Amino acid sequence: MVIKNLMENSKEDPRDFFILYKLAEMGAREKVVKISTKFLASRIGLSQQSASRRLIELERKGLIHRTVTREGSFIKITKTGENFLRRVYLGLSAIFEGKPHSITIEGRVFSGLGEGAYYVSRKIYRKQFVEKLGFDPYPGTLNLKITDGRNARLMMELDAFPGIEIRGFRNKSRTYGPVRCFHAVINGREKGAVVFALRSHYNRNVLEVIAPVCLRKHLKLKDGDKVKVEVLL
Ligand code: CDP
Repeated sequence: MVIKNLMENSKEDPRDFFILYKLAEMGAREKVVKISTKFLASRIGLSQQSASRRLIELERKGLIHRTVTREGSFIKITKTGENFLRRVYLGLSAIFEGKPHSITIEGRVFSGLGEGAYYVSRKIYRKQFVEKLGFDPYPGTLNLKITDGRNARLMMELDAFPGIEIRGFRNKSRTYGPVRCFHAVINGREKGAVVFALRSHYNRNVLEVIAPVCLRKHLKLKDGDKVKVEVLL
């Protein structure tokens, strides 16, 4: 499914990948690097003019930051560009290493401010959950705190995948941002989904889970309990 997601992300032009890959080889993922279009062109087998056009295109799509001077271009791959590369990387490792198409993240249950129920039960969100995830969610989100580096890294890996998008909307008084979801299996048995607000840099220390049932009840959970979420990519 990794590859499927990759192909379905319509904003991505496969031609961008190779150039990003070459730029990353030249160090542009970690830092700003000075690259002459001529040199880049020779590395990617394009004319200088085409290479230059491709760079403009990459910048337009937000995949690189670029400053052009007389000495050459100063280039750095953006977070969006890095995520593109990471998706291909994970897709390839699934092919070559037979890695499962899921990421399992562990966190501990904690109580929030009771806002989850409000958001999940907004009619326009709820309708989309039913259409796109195939279930009517229990009103609320189960909050899991990510407490260690390993799981925090897994959260970042997850960030590289597009997931299923739930559209945002606005009513008279305010706007509701878009939400990104992934199907998930909780503690190896309950089906549900993880949800992330798309609007901001979501808090990487918290994983929010929705499900057709009350997970606290079905899995006999209380604050502080460890929960394992297999996120399907
Ligand atoms: O923000 P907070 O966790 O306080 O509450 P909420 O998101 O409004 O959810 C209400 C309650 O239901 C919380 O105790 C959640 O942990 C729980 N919940 C659950 O057990 N299973 C779900 N599928 C959704 C929420």
